[in-house]
Amino acid sequence: MTEAGASSGGFAVVLAAAGSGTRFESGENSGRKQFMELGGRPLITYSLDAFASISEVRVVCVVAPAEELEAVGELVRSWSKGCPRAAGEDLDLSLVPGGQSRQESVRLGVEAIGETCEWILVHDAARPLIEPGDVRRLMVAVSEHGAAALGYPATDSVKREEAGMSEQGLDRSRTWSVQTPQGATAENFREAYSLAVEGEEYTDELALLEAAGIPARLVEGSRENIKVTLPGDEELARFFLARRDGAGGDD
Ligand code: CTP
Ligand code: MG
Repeated sequence: MTEAGASSGGFAVVLAAAGSGTRFESGENSGRKQFMELGGRPLITYSLDAFASISEVRVVCVVAPAEELEAVGELVRSWSKGCPRAAGEDLDLSLVPGGQSRQESVRLGVEAIGETCEWILVHDAARPLIEPGDVRRLMVAVSEHGAAALGYPATDSVKREEAGMSEQGLDRSRTWSVQTPQGATAENFREAYSLAVEGEEYTDELALLEAAGIPARLVEGSRENIKVTLPGDEELARFFLARRDGAGGDD
């Protein structure tokens, strides 16, 4: 296996945490899901731990809701005290205010990172189950292919819908569910943003890169890397985390 990022530049991570979690809100759930308590600590800290454990990751930029910048700054500072790399300034941590859409938040994070690293990974803070081993395999693919994302071959069929009717099926043997992290060279991101159409919604980084003609490698990761999106998803996340702890270790 190639040592990802060993030759030069290193990796920067944009941790997208500026969403308002509207689909997650319910009678019981209030506050933003990415900062909710999960297994005794804020949900976002699982992703921070995963990236901080990888030495090739040199920069982590947390994109936070503009109106909660101070509180999130406090949360990140408090987390960093327990993280030797962050406390020892071996890991460069920054915080920037996000935008109205995920796309806008990620763009602001990528802009803030600038030229500091050769490669950039983007991760949803709402995915606490991300495993360092999967991130490492993704990093190798990003450094070899210029762009890559974690995901897994789809197990459900995916249909296009029109007025409630199934219009067209996609060939399931060629369909993947795509997760984050998704990453590319800083240069590919720069090019993709320069070619992005104003007002166009790109659902994720792969869509943005594809629109610029930049192909991305799909890397099979864990199905447990779920995004806490709907009420109840946090129960599943708790279950996976408890099972992982029970199996001895979190790597
Ligand atoms: N995100 C972001 N900035 C936004 C919207 C989303 O940084 N303006 C982040 C979220 O915090 C989350 C990730 O992008 O970590 C994935 O987005 P999603 O699951 O859609 O979260 P929300 O947008 O917060 O939820 P919803 O769409 O239900 O409102
Ligand atoms: Mg959203």
